[in-house]
Amino acid sequence: MSDPLSIETREGLPDEWLFLREKYPRDTWMANSDLGEHARFWLSIHRHFRMMGAHLQSQSDTYREGLIDAGTFRQTMAPRLQQFLQTLDHHHRIEDGVFFPKFMAAEKRLIKGIELLEEDHHVIDAEVHNMVEIANKLLQSDPANSDQLKRNGEAFANCSERIVALLGRHLDDEEDIVVPLMLDRNEIELMD
Ligand SMILES: [Fe+2]
Ligand SMILES: [Fe+2]
Repeated sequence: MSDPLSIETREGLPDEWLFLREKYPRDTWMANSDLGEHARFWLSIHRHFRMMGAHLQSQSDTYREGLIDAGTFRQTMAPRLQQFLQTLDHHHRIEDGVFFPKFMAAEKRLIKGIELLEEDHHVIDAEVHNMVEIANKLLQSDPANSDQLKRNGEAFANCSERIVALLGRHLDDEEDIVVPLMLDRNEIELMD
């Protein structure tokens, strides 16, 4: 039987980890004056990832619809991809190494939920590793070999679509655990 909490298939978190989100619904976060600088900065990074994901997705769709050729697709993707993947890697490291241990210590009822978020990072990081290899193949494709360029372009579009889906699921669920916790506790004490 498949894991109901797998990032591949789940459609949100179980209620047992959402008791603080009940108290602080998502649509009230930004207007809450207790939302501190850490939380606002962290949410802005998530916004950046969503924007980059949307860009990847739209470029992949444009390529699949035949509106740009594989060579153009390659040129438009390369410059921003490296920055996106590096920022994502850095973000995961800080969460795993700094944020999550503090959050787990602060709220024992969320330990399992935060461990799930760490597992998500492993799945996403493995897919990022895969993406770097596929992107390199696309970059190294022989411009004169249209079959090779097309094949590698398609593989890249598939992989980016998968990363965008995984990341979207993860960001939503992570925010549902972390933001209400930061609102419920004093952010400075929580992060100390
Ligand atoms: Fe994360
Ligand atoms: Fe995050």
